[in-house]
Amino acid sequence: MSRIRSPKFQAKVMSAVEAAAFIKDGDNVGVSGFTGSGYPKEVPGALADRIKAATEAGQELRVGLFTGASTAPELDGSLGASGGTSFRTPYQSDPEMRKAINAGITDYCDIHLSHSGPQVRQGFLGNMDVAVVEVTAITEDGALIPSSSVGNNNVYLDCADKVILEVNSWQSADLEGMHDIYNGIELPPNNRPIPIMAAGDRIGETTMRVDPDKVVAVVETSDPDRNSPFKSLDDDSKTIAGYFLDFLNNEVKQGRLPKNLNPLQSGVGNIANAVLSGLLESDLENLTSYTEVIQDGMVDLIDAGKLTVASATAFSLSPEYAEKMNDNAAFYRRHIVLRPQEISNNPEPIRRMGVIACNGLIEADIYGNVNSTHIMGSKMQNGIGGSGDFTRNAYISCFVTPSTAKRGDISCIVPMVSHHDHTEHDVMVIITEQGVADLRHLAPRKRARVIIENCAHPDYRDMLTDYLDRAEKTTNSLHTPHDLREALSWHVRCLETGSMKA
Ligand code: COA
Repeated sequence: MSRIRSPKFQAKVMSAVEAAAFIKDGDNVGVSGFTGSGYPKEVPGALADRIKAATEAGQELRVGLFTGASTAPELDGSLGASGGTSFRTPYQSDPEMRKAINAGITDYCDIHLSHSGPQVRQGFLGNMDVAVVEVTAITEDGALIPSSSVGNNNVYLDCADKVILEVNSWQSADLEGMHDIYNGIELPPNNRPIPIMAAGDRIGETTMRVDPDKVVAVVETSDPDRNSPFKSLDDDSKTIAGYFLDFLNNEVKQGRLPKNLNPLQSGVGNIANAVLSGLLESDLENLTSYTEVIQDGMVDLIDAGKLTVASATAFSLSPEYAEKMNDNAAFYRRHIVLRPQEISNNPEPIRRMGVIACNGLIEADIYGNVNSTHIMGSKMQNGIGGSGDFTRNAYISCFVTPSTAKRGDISCIVPMVSHHDHTEHDVMVIITEQGVADLRHLAPRKRARVIIENCAHPDYRDMLTDYLDRAEKTTNSLHTPHDLREALSWHVRCLETGSMKA
């Protein structure tokens, strides 16, 4: 059966090249896609080709690119390399787009994922000219069955003047019924509480709505999502996962968490995925998850019967697990709810349900401030993504990281972070392969000793202690002692010599 069941939409089928011609210089384009899932596979490439041809002809063709989060080489990669992306928001992680951002070709507005949809609705970010959204199918009455991510699709479909749909037959038809599209979000003062009481609650519809008169093109595609495989678990990741588990078990023992914990959130990246694998080995049962992405580790937990339900906005699966999801979507939709990111990342249910957040970082300082986004203070790596949405509002906010980077030349624990994403007021627990720093109830000088002792690599421990001792002496033990002349000298040394070692 055709994936395009509505004759009205069938009449709008055309090639990606024809569809891309609807996008004009200066347009803001809102696309589907979230961590390599559910992004349009063909129109962005056709647009990148038009941009290159225009550049060669001495013409201007540049667009503002709005997504759910990071996408894949066919989208961020091709548009980043084309030089035709004047503006990009929110999260990205593509090497080509990163190059364009750090070269000043693309203005990058790195906002919290929960803010991105509402800011488009408010009009802060300009007019939304075109939406390009991948769907699994279009029903007889023109409802859209979402694909492997929801992200900001509902917002872009609502706000855009023109809509291009990609109908991807690679996505399993059995995804129908997995989504929960809540249309109750309004701008203040009309906004109302989100009626989610537990991670698996369904409060909306299984399909997305679009005004059919705005749809200018429908493109049929059949290409797979393109997520990268996770790195195999090394000893450090296993140790970090073990410490996280010990920490949770102790919280249960102390009566601060129920036996099946509170809903879990797990961030992007290899370490976060490794932490989920650690839970597989545990005695914990009947777990739930209120998170942003479903990773391989979460699928394993569902298969093992340990995770009863996972709420997210997208899959972030390795190619092997994406195939598995496609083959068994009818089973997984009993355990997975995919929602718009203005719901999955919304501070209100996160705080109310007491989510346990676990995210990666680039560096943390001795007081517990965290940099998740910048290398050496200036170079954008990926972006803040949903880490702020969860960290600020979590019941317990954890960060996990190896204690060093670049084969030990860089310490991930430093005197002062070179860029600030999460403040000491939000960060409760830091875990490295060296141990756990539980920062709750500790004043800054005590935090510093615990972080250095429990989390810093032995190669850097004495250097950090020496820094702290001297900062205490210089400031006469003020509340948060720093020697400002020296605070960032570790980074300066690293930029000059490639290593933080003295
Ligand atoms: N200084 C310099 N470089 C560092 C570093 C440091 N302190 N720490 C890590 N890096 C480098 C790594 O060497 C690696 O470089 P490479 O790409 O050249 O190999 C790169 O940064 C990524 O590090 P890696 O250890 O592979 O990261 P990861 O997969 O565990 O991800 C983050 C870590 C912080 C990049 C990732 O979690 C992120 O983007 N977080 C922000 C968004 C977020 O948390 N989203 C989830 C919310 S739900």
